[in-house]
Formats: sequence, structure tokens, C-alpha cells
Amino acid sequence: MIRHGCILKLLLLALNVALLMSNSYSQGDEKEYIVYMGDRLKDVSSTASLYLSMLRNVIGSNVVPDSVLYSYRRSFSGFVVRLTEEQARNLAEIGGVVSVFPNKKYSLQTTRSWDFLGFPEQVRRATMENDIIIGVLDTGIWPGSDSFSDAGLGPPPSKWKGSCQSSANFTCNNKIIGAKYYRVVGPVKSPEDVLSPLDTEGHGTHVASTAAGRSVASASLYGLGSGTARGGVPSARIAVYKICWSDGCYGADILAAFDDAIADGVDIISLSVGNFFINDFYEDPIAIGAFYAMKNNVLTSNSGGNNGPSAGNITSVAPWLLSVAASTIDRKFLTKVQLANGNLYEGISINTVDGANEMYPLIYGANAPNKTANITGSISRYCRIGTLDPNLVQGKIVVCDTLTNGNGPFSAGAKGAIMHYDFFLKDVAFSFPLPVSYLDDDKGIDILRYINSSRNASTSIFKSMEINDTVAPYVVSFSSRGPNLLTPGILKPDLSAPGVDILAGWTMAASITGVPGDNRFSPFNIISGTSMACPHASAAAAYIKSFNPTWSPAAIKSALMTTATPMKAPTNSSAAEFAYGTGNINPLKAVNPGLVYDANQTDYVKFLCGQGYNKITLWIMTGDDSTCSNATNGTVWDLNYPSFTLPTASVSTPIDQIFTRTVTNVGDPTSTYRSVVSAPAGLSIQVVPEALSFNSLGQKLSFNVTVGGSISRSMVSASLVWDDGVHQVRSPIVVYVVASS
Ligand SMILES: *[C@@H]1O[C@H](CO)[C@@H](O)[C@H](O)[C@H]1NC(C)=O
Ligand SMILES: *[C@@H]1O[C@H](CO)[C@@H](O)[C@H](O)[C@H]1NC(C)=O
Ligand SMILES: *[C@@H]1O[C@H](CO)[C@@H](O)[C@H](O)[C@H]1NC(C)=O
Ligand SMILES: *[C@@H]1O[C@H](CO)[C@@H](O)[C@H](O)[C@H]1NC(C)=O
Ligand SMILES: *[C@@H]1O[C@H](CO)[C@@H](O)[C@H](O)[C@H]1NC(C)=O
Ligand SMILES: *[C@@H]1O[C@H](CO)[C@@H](O)[C@H](O)[C@H]1NC(C)=O
Ligand SMILES: *[C@@H]1O[C@H](CO)[C@@H](O)[C@H](O)[C@H]1NC(C)=O
Ligand SMILES: *[C@@H]1O[C@H](CO)[C@@H](O)[C@H](O)[C@H]1NC(C)=O
Ligand SMILES: *[C@@H]1O[C@H](CO)[C@@H](O)[C@H](O)[C@H]1NC(C)=O
Ligand SMILES: *[C@@H]1O[C@H](CO)[C@@H](O)[C@H](O)[C@H]1NC(C)=O
Ligand SMILES: *[C@@H]1O[C@H](CO)[C@@H](O)[C@H](O)[C@H]1NC(C)=O
Ligand SMILES: *[C@@H]1O[C@H](CO)[C@@H](O)[C@H](O)[C@H]1NC(C)=O
Repeated sequence: MIRHGCILKLLLLALNVALLMSNSYSQGDEKEYIVYMGDRLKDVSSTASLYLSMLRNVIGSNVVPDSVLYSYRRSFSGFVVRLTEEQARNLAEIGGVVSVFPNKKYSLQTTRSWDFLGFPEQVRRATMENDIIIGVLDTGIWPGSDSFSDAGLGPPPSKWKGSCQSSANFTCNNKIIGAKYYRVVGPVKSPEDVLSPLDTEGHGTHVASTAAGRSVASASLYGLGSGTARGGVPSARIAVYKICWSDGCYGADILAAFDDAIADGVDIISLSVGNFFINDFYEDPIAIGAFYAMKNNVLTSNSGGNNGPSAGNITSVAPWLLSVAASTIDRKFLTKVQLANGNLYEGISINTVDGANEMYPLIYGANAPNKTANITGSISRYCRIGTLDPNLVQGKIVVCDTLTNGNGPFSAGAKGAIMHYDFFLKDVAFSFPLPVSYLDDDKGIDILRYINSSRNASTSIFKSMEINDTVAPYVVSFSSRGPNLLTPGILKPDLSAPGVDILAGWTMAASITGVPGDNRFSPFNIISGTSMACPHASAAAAYIKSFNPTWSPAAIKSALMTTATPMKAPTNSSAAEFAYGTGNINPLKAVNPGLVYDANQTDYVKFLCGQGYNKITLWIMTGDDSTCSNATNGTVWDLNYPSFTLPTASVSTPIDQIFTRTVTNVGDPTSTYRSVVSAPAGLSIQVVPEALSFNSLGQKLSFNVTVGGSISRSMVSASLVWDDGVHQVRSPIVVYVVASS
């Protein structure tokens, strides 16, 4: 899987080179398979011998205890083993085995952000916050960070059953109460991969400190983003599950971390990892793990992915996941470039080096090909690594015809680079190993003209400055969009949270770009991704739970969704709800949502039945002996989801669909909510009954929403708000033309 933070790396990979992604770790004809066996076995002591005898049936007598690479046994059961494809098929036939799927690779996809959300540092806090444990599944953690000081925190809450894998470089404290690393598959590939929960990458430290970091004054990245760095729930505890390594995050490790985190007693799981492709629920370690988490009353918050802005690229789609899109905040980083002729240009980037008073000669990448490598100007204009001639670019600022990670000019000894491109990632600022400004295409062409017309073209690149982006928040271009290709009747993403240019803690074991030769080590770093949005939502969920400890994962998710701030459609995009879900999180409002749309395992099983999951695949998903019957066959329209989504065959096809929903009163014992509908012309929306009168807390009342008429565009947005004068419980209603395949 992919860490959803390394977007520059990933997007450039997708843009520039064919996406070569080996999906599984293989050795000869064999590869790693996950054998998933449903619910936890009652007699855990016999699992080892059971697994071995199953394998002997399929492989033969040469099976040894070491053949089982990992056993899941604490929250569900199954194991990891190396098999040929044929052996995997045979194993899947054995009674008790519910699915056998390859161990695929997934990836990882401040300060200001919480204030921007209207969630100030001095917000009202529940004493329960000390007892909330957030499980962070990521690259590990840097325990030396001030963000993880345990000053003033008592011992871990008594419900905690986890452990700390301490080593010479790693110890836990009363903030980081547990830590463990997972590497089921093969040896690690790089010296940076230390076999310890220690974070040698930075991503996990960033995510954990965004969710639950203590307040650290005067934090910044070399003066940029300066302010107090803090997590959303600074008193909550962190449990670390290191599942990502330099070669990615494997499904077997993700499942192992879920198996432990659920049994360890975490309250919320924060998972900033995903894949490029949608797997069906029963072959997706995130969907399986999160289903068990839900069964055990733990909400999983998951990054929506960085594969936007194409429609339908979101892969975090299970209804029991909270899928988070990335939005901007009001702080934006600009980097000025001034030519020797006085012309001044503003680009986007994060540049920590103050070069305002230093002019360096300019050279166009096309005029500096690495001839030793037979490179021509038509290649070197893009400044990719190995294509530039160091003798020509050394000490100069290179102009490059595309956005790259900067390693090309950096390794060739350039002083800086000016990159330009006509579209692509203009709404996010990246760090590079050398001073860089990323300009619009027309400004880049302007500078190339200047190079042509000047005998001694030179320029300076300023340190980045912060400006107030008054149009924030909007969903950033890279954030994965809906619709949901697996379950078209469920809106995804669910909501959005800040994920652009976020300042948070960093590891001291890696530089801020991780590029060899970059010697900038900083306790804080500014990075972007739905990976950064996810921990904001995780913390908001933890905050809700600290006030409402008995709420189910679905109730917490509903509170976040129905109180989210509706957003503007992103720049020139019809994506609307497919970009932002219900809107931007509002943690303060979410604590007191008035009504919640609750759901539990029984509801999700009905939903799966209605999706046509037959008995065996249903069993695969729920791990128990749930079967579908007429009584349990719910349609997707009846799943008690806090948003309403209706795919239709084409524009102007007549629509007629009833949604049934039940809301639970968690506001004032006696209250009357009136329905307020807003719908575009042509679409008729009726709510029956129109008002709901409650006379006790916890009371549940049902209503129907009938959507009729037709739509005139490929997607239209409407909404239903239940309003009692104090609470506005808002759900978007989306009707769209489903692309025929
Ligand atoms: C971890 O500790 C070992 C020995 O104590 C040391 O050799 C190693 O460099 C340390 N690794 C990091 C990343 O600090
Ligand atoms: C996103 O969707 C587009 C169009 O559906 C597809 O061509 C592309 O491969 C997808 N990209 C990723 C990264 O999944
Ligand atoms: C460059 O091209 C020349 C002539 O075609 C060839 O002899 C040489 O091996 C090539 N060098 C590299 C690095 O490919
Ligand atoms: C230029 O090409 C040669 C031959 O491929 C290579 O050894 C060298 O590293 C390249 N220079 C740079 C700066 O990448
Ligand atoms: C710069 O000069 C070259 C060679 O004369 C020409 O091909 C190119 O189009 C010029 N570039 C610009 C931006 O004017
Ligand atoms: C070229 O520009 C650089 C930097 O502005 C300056 O130091 C140098 O003297 C100039 N050379 C000529 C020949 O004008
Ligand atoms: C940006 O401006 C708005 C008002 O226009 C203000 O409320 C907000 O605090 C400003 N943000 C920053 C980062 O200065
Ligand atoms: C939006 O995109 C369409 C084509 O996709 C284009 O014709 C139109 O000019 C764009 N509008 C804006 C405001 O950028
Ligand atoms: C789910 O909730 C319903 C009531 O809404 C209840 O009847 C059912 O037993 C619950 N299922 C589980 C598995 O707790
Ligand atoms: C449940 O509904 C789905 C979709 O309508 C259908 O395919 C399936 O056969 C039904 N199952 C039962 C047990 O009625
Ligand atoms: C289930 O529903 C179908 C049609 O809705 C009906 O034909 C069938 O008899 C029902 N089965 C049972 C056991 O009630
Ligand atoms: C909702 O519609 C269903 C039919 O689909 C009906 O049985 C039920 O009584 C309706 N509920 C309300 C509250 O009107």
C-alpha cells in the first residue's frame, strides 16, 4: 500500500514513467499469500498445529513450522505463507478457509490547521481525553520529539493491553504507550529500515503528532509555518504500529497491525495508507481489518488517496471506514524569483534558503545535456536525474520544463531550479533538496526568452513567504475523487480535513526531503497528502469519543459528517461531493450533533447481502456464520448512512427511489426537528414524516426520503437538514449518472 503523504514522489512517478509497481513480494514461482480464516478461533493454543496440518494437505509433508510466516490470532484468524498460485487455489478450497489472496503492496499516501478549523488550543476538553488511545499504523515514530513528551500524563489507561518493543534507540513513555513493528515478508531492503518502531522516514511522526501531539511553542520549518504545533487531542495516548518500510506497506503487515491494535484496546485507528486499485472487500486487508475494528467498537479513519482529480479514483470505499479527502487551509507558501533585469515572478514551493541577495547565472536544462550519457536537449530540458551535465549547471540556476522532485539539478550541483508546467499541482507547495520555485508555464517561457536575449542571464530565488489564501478551504487537486466504483450508492469520500502544507513533527533520522545529500534535519516539516488529512479526522473522532465514550464507530462518523462545513465546489470541477464528501470537519460542532445515524455489524451485514454477497463471501467479510435471508436483505438505500447517493442510468431518466433512515437522539431529550430540503429544479425530494418529535435521549425515529424527477446534468447536489433550532443535522443528497462500463 502507499503512504498517502509522498504525493510528489507518486504523482511524478505516475506522470513521468510507466507505473511499475510490483504488487507482491515474490520468490521464484511462489509468493506470499494471506490466508484469511474469519473470526478468532476459540482455542488459540491449537492454531499453530491447525495451520500446519492444513498446509500439509496442500503442499505435502515438507511443510515445516517456519512455513507459516505469521499467524493472526488475537482479533481474527488466518496466516501468511509462501505458495505457488496452484497451491493457493487448493488451499482456498479447504473448509475453514474463507479467502486466500496475494500479499499486495500498498503505500503511504499544523499548527495553523486546527485554528483554521475553528478548534482553538484552549477548547473545552473532557478529562476522558487522557484515556483515549489512537492507534497509528504508519512508518513508526520519533519518540524524541517534543510533541511526544509525557510530562503530566499518568500511566496508560487500564484497558491498554499492548506492549512496547523497546530497543537501544526506542523507548515508550506515558504518551507513546505502545509500539511494535511488523515485517511479515522477507528481510528489509534498505539500511534506513531499522528493525524497531523508530521512524526513519518522517511520515509516521508527522501523522501521530497531527493527531495527538503535545503543544510545542515556536515550532517551524526553518522559520516557515512558525507557530505552536499541536495535535487535535494533545492528552490522548499514541499506540504505534509500524507497517511501512522503504519498499512500501504490505497487506500482511497491515492485517497483523489491525489484529494487534484491536486486541490491544485502541479507541481509534488512524491509517494513512491505501492502494491504487479497488479490491473487493473480502480481499482488501484494510476493509477486513476495519470491519473487525468496527465489530470491536473501534472506528478506522483512512486517507482517501492521492490519485485525484480524475473521477472515480478513490479506493477507500467500505462504508465502515471513515474516508478522508484533503482540503487546503488559509496559509499558502509562495516563492519569488527575481531576474537580473528586475522582473519578479511568484511561484509555489517550500524553499528554506534565503537567496534574495544572491544572483546566480541561469541556464536552460535543454542547453546542458549530459553528453556522456548520450542525452540530448530534448531530454535534458526536463532535468531528470542523470540527464544534466554537471560542468554546465554547477553553481547555476537551471530552468526545467516540468515539475520534478529536483534530484536532477541537485545531484548535478546546481544552485537552484526554476520549474514550469502548464497545469498540475498548482495548489500545493513541495519541498525540494535545493532552492526551487514552481511557476506557471507563461512565466517560465518568459524566463526562457530572457535567457535567449541576455548575454549574462542571472536570477535569485527568495526564501518562501506565507500568504493568506482567502478562498480556502477547497479540496486540493491530488485528493482522490468519487464516485465509489465498488458501491455506487455510497458516497465517498465521507468528508475532508486539512491536508495541504501541514506543519507537524518529523524524525531526526532523515532529512526533510529524504534525498541523500540534503542536510536539513528539522524536528518539524511541512508536507501534504490525504495522509495529513486522515489524522485530523482521527483526532476529531477521538475528541468526540472523549465526550461520548459509549458511541459506536458509526455514531462518531455520523457526528463528524452531519456537522461538517459544506464546501465550495473545487476550481472548475463538477466533482463537488465527490471531492469533499459532506464537507470540512468541524470538531467542536461534532461533539454535539443533535442526532446521529447509527449502524452496527447487523446493518453492514444486511448491506452486504443486498450487494449480492452470497453466503460464503459474506462469511468471508464478517468472519462469522452470518447468512443472507429475505429478512436480512437490505438494499444500499436502507443502510443507515449519513449521506444519500443515487446512481442513475442517464441524464433525464425518470428517478424514483426511497431511502429509509433512522436517527438517534443524542441532543436534548425533548426536541422537535423539522426537515429542510434544498434541491435543484427538476429533482423532487420528499421527507416523510416532515418533522420528528423526540421525548427522550437515545430515542430512535425513522423517516423516508423519496427522490423523484430527473437530473439535467451528470451530477447534482441537494441536501436534507434536520433542524431543531439548535442543531442542524445536514446530509448531502447526490444524484449522478453512473458511467457504464
Ligand atoms: C540505533 O541504535 C544502534 C545501536 O544502539 C545504532 O547503531 C544505530 O545507528 C541506531 N539507529 C538510528 C537510526 O539511530
Ligand atoms: C484514475 O482514473 C483514470 C480514469 O478513470 C485512470 O485512467 C487512471 O489510471 C486512474 N489513476 C490512478 C492512479 O488510479
Ligand atoms: C553513446 O553513443 C556512442 C555512439 O553511438 C556509443 O559508442 C556510446 O557507448 C554511448 N554511450 C552511452 C553511455 O550510452
Ligand atoms: C552523466 O552520465 C554519465 C554516464 O551515464 C553518468 O555516469 C553521470 O553520473 C551522469 N551525470 C550526472 C550528473 O548524473
Ligand atoms: C530561444 O532560442 C532558441 C534558439 O534560437 C529558440 O529555438 C527558442 O524557441 C527560443 N526560446 C524562446 C522561449 O523564445
Ligand atoms: C553576470 O552576472 C553576475 C551576477 O549578476 C555578475 O556577478 C557578473 O559580473 C556578470 N558578468 C558580466 C560579464 O556581466
Ligand atoms: C486570513 O484572513 C482572514 C480574514 O480575511 C482571517 O480571518 C484569517 O485569520 C487570516 N489567516 C491568516 C493565516 O492570517
Ligand atoms: C473549466 O473546464 C472546461 C473544460 O474542461 C473549460 O472549457 C472551462 O473554460 C473551464 N472553466 C474555468 C473557469 O476554468
Ligand atoms: C445492532 O443494532 C440493533 C438495534 O438497532 C440490534 O437489534 C442488533 O442486535 C445490533 N447488532 C449487533 C451485532 O450488535
Ligand atoms: C438479496 O438482494 C440481492 C439484490 O437485490 C439479490 O441478488 C439476492 O439474491 C438477495 N438475497 C436473498 C437471500 O434474498
Ligand atoms: C424471499 O423473497 C422472494 C421474493 O421477494 C420470495 O419469492 C421468497 O418466497 C422469499 N423467501 C422466503 C423464505 O420468504
Ligand atoms: C417508508 O417506506 C416504506 C416502504 O418502502 C414503508 O413501509 C414505511 O412505512 C415508510 N416509513 C415511513 C416512516 O413513512
